[in-house]
Amino acid sequence: MNLRQATADDLLGMQNCNLHNLPENYQLKYYLYHIATWPQLSFVAEDDNGRIVGYVLAKMDEEPGQVAHGHITSLSVMRNYRRLGLAEKLMKLSQRAMVETFNAEYASLHVRKNNTAAFSLYKDNLKFSIHEVEKGYYADGEDAYDMRLTFRK
Ligand SMILES: CC(C)(COP(=O)(O)OP(=O)(O)OC[C@H]1O[C@@H](n2cnc3c(N)ncnc32)[C@H](O)[C@@H]1OP(=O)(O)O)[C@@H](O)C(=O)NCCC(=O)NCCS
Repeated sequence: MNLRQATADDLLGMQNCNLHNLPENYQLKYYLYHIATWPQLSFVAEDDNGRIVGYVLAKMDEEPGQVAHGHITSLSVMRNYRRLGLAEKLMKLSQRAMVETFNAEYASLHVRKNNTAAFSLYKDNLKFSIHEVEKGYYADGEDAYDMRLTFRK
């Protein structure tokens, strides 16, 4: 297993992994936008055959008047490769790059209220906390937790 920064060559593999694992899907140009703009922040896990079996897609939110902060756009790991610590490692790589490259003060993300696996990962392993509940955030009407992790200086 190899964990490394994502490149434009990984776009199809990342999209394939996303389509298998999540209802929130994106056009290829959205992946490319992330990788072209913030190449330091997105990572992939590839197996021995070079197949992408997990990814984290991340960006910076740099809106005027707001402190610089990173945002996790999407994270998933193929079913056969779960519970091996890949998601936690991918998240930590991205979080570290947010701080080291962009001086981010915190990271944010959205997660479905009923996604217990992802919620445990964020809350218990990575120490994110709930910032607020966004009612009906997802296309099917499910609520999201807006979660944040403040980085230590
Ligand atoms: C959520 C997801 C990314 C976790 O990937 P993973 O590589 O299996 O996660 P890890 O092995 O790094 O697990 C880290 C921690 O997450 C939590 N966790 C992971 N899977 C879990 C599950 N099925 N049930 C409960 N907790 C779980 C545990 O706290 C785990 O720590 P532990 O193994 O020490 O108990 C994966 O299940 C997935 O791709 N799900 C579908 C897509 C998705 O929900 N993405 C997140 C959208 S916000």
